[in-house]
Amino acid sequence: MGSEAAAALLGAVRACGQDQLLRFWPQLGPGQRRALLADLATLGPAGLGEHCHRALRAWGQRRHRRDRRRLLRDALQDPPDPADRPLSARLRPLPPDALGGARRHPPHTLRRWELEGFHQIAQNRVAVLLLAGGQGTRLGVTYPKGMYSVGLPSGKTLYQLQAERIRRVEELAGQKSGSRCTVPWYIMTSEFTLGPTARFFEEHGYFGLDPSDVVMFEQRMLPAVTFDGKAILERKDKIAMAPDGNGGLYRALEDNRILEDMEQRGIQYVHVYCVDNILVKMADPVFIGFCVLRGADCGAKVVEKAYPAEPVGVVCQVDGVFQVVEYSEIGPETVQARNPDGSLVYSAGNICNHFFTRSFLETVTREFESLLQPHVAVKKVPYVDEEGNLVTPDKPNGIKMEKFVFDVFQFAKNFVAFEVLREEEFSPLKNADTADKDSPTTARRALLWQHYRWALEAGGRFPRGSPSGVSPDQDPIPGAQEPPAICEISPLVSYFGEGLATYLKDKELQSPFILDEHEAKVLAAA
Ligand code: UD1
Repeated sequence: MGSEAAAALLGAVRACGQDQLLRFWPQLGPGQRRALLADLATLGPAGLGEHCHRALRAWGQRRHRRDRRRLLRDALQDPPDPADRPLSARLRPLPPDALGGARRHPPHTLRRWELEGFHQIAQNRVAVLLLAGGQGTRLGVTYPKGMYSVGLPSGKTLYQLQAERIRRVEELAGQKSGSRCTVPWYIMTSEFTLGPTARFFEEHGYFGLDPSDVVMFEQRMLPAVTFDGKAILERKDKIAMAPDGNGGLYRALEDNRILEDMEQRGIQYVHVYCVDNILVKMADPVFIGFCVLRGADCGAKVVEKAYPAEPVGVVCQVDGVFQVVEYSEIGPETVQARNPDGSLVYSAGNICNHFFTRSFLETVTREFESLLQPHVAVKKVPYVDEEGNLVTPDKPNGIKMEKFVFDVFQFAKNFVAFEVLREEEFSPLKNADTADKDSPTTARRALLWQHYRWALEAGGRFPRGSPSGVSPDQDPIPGAQEPPAICEISPLVSYFGEGLATYLKDKELQSPFILDEHEAKVLAAA
């Protein structure tokens, strides 16, 4: 950037009231100045000022709403504005006709959906889209979560398991239709995750996928803002920025012309999912087929909540409109509410697995993206103080604004939800092993339990494993116990337990047992 343009930019930053960002300008070296100027130019002074203003307003509104509700409750008045009614009064559970699922339909119906899903995959109409721009703060690693290995016998990372599931589902669809097909993998990253993710895929030969079918793109970043509306400096030359939430997807699709790429490939249906669920069924034919045959433009997989306070969003209706209400937004009484039969009223736990038609995504990016309301998160944001020392605050000092991927459900013409079995499809990796839930240990055990069950169902036997031992179905949290025997089955051999009898029927297996492609050949020949 020329010196005149730089001076104009700095002037504009001061004029929009963000001069604290230039506090250390006189001390910065040429490289540091270039870096700060580049950040400021990307944000644009007007955009920066507007963002800080919006963040402050959104934070103020949130506080105002809370205070107002408290006052209304205290005064025992009927609130005049529906939006002022407490959320609990506006919520309704999912209507039964919007909900399908493994426990609600006979096997032949599930098979019909599965066949339809495979048909769509075989026609090259299905893509998967991974949301991988998050910072994984709770897990506490400095690299993208997808690169994490939970300690399986094979040492596979989440990215590798996902890549292999894509390869296998392509193979299965191809076998059924007699032709080769491709499920392109779109991966939304952020400034934090793009570089390491791209390198990781290159170093691992894209896990056997064709690199041209793996499309990485970047979401936008937004500055963190103080409670008096000032963008925060995390270093003397760097603004504290965070990804704009997984609902940043819709802007990122537009910024990176991803929907055009999908159109060129003939994609009609997109399965969007989050990175951390070790049991995720990529391009799940049953879910795809269910959504397609129901004529849905938008769908969500759910699991029955394991316990009232489980930290998952709830798929429900608010004022008659489909939505996910996050665990942080729902009050304790609503969370605990039960039906006469004892089941939870709000039991449809969101597992961040969504179905969208491409045409719905086009409508959202064209017409609705700007209507999505950002959610305010109050966070501890490391910053540099007046003297230039790095400070890690011990209480929240900043506002971050995030959009949520599911906030587009309200725009769907035909929304459906699909309930799946937790022990088969949901074990998220959120926390480090110091936590007793959603940790590397619980994720590893959930996968090993599943593979152990598959092996038994296929007719394999573990002499020292007890098939009648503790079952994870009896356990509210999959992964709370070790399986009786260690068994890991490569997704390249079986996507969801199918076809295993060929290798395992009447075989005595020794724990730890790893069924990879090589072992499968040996067993098939035996
Ligand atoms: C998410 C869901 C929650 C659900 C839970 C199930 C959202 C907003 N919340 O919660 O309803 O019950 O998963 O596990 O979807 N991400 C980005 N960019 C960002 C932020 C996040 O791509 O800016 C990605 C993450 O990498 C991850 C996914 O979005 O793959 C979910 O984000 P995370 O922050 O883990 O959401 P949760 O709070 O766990």
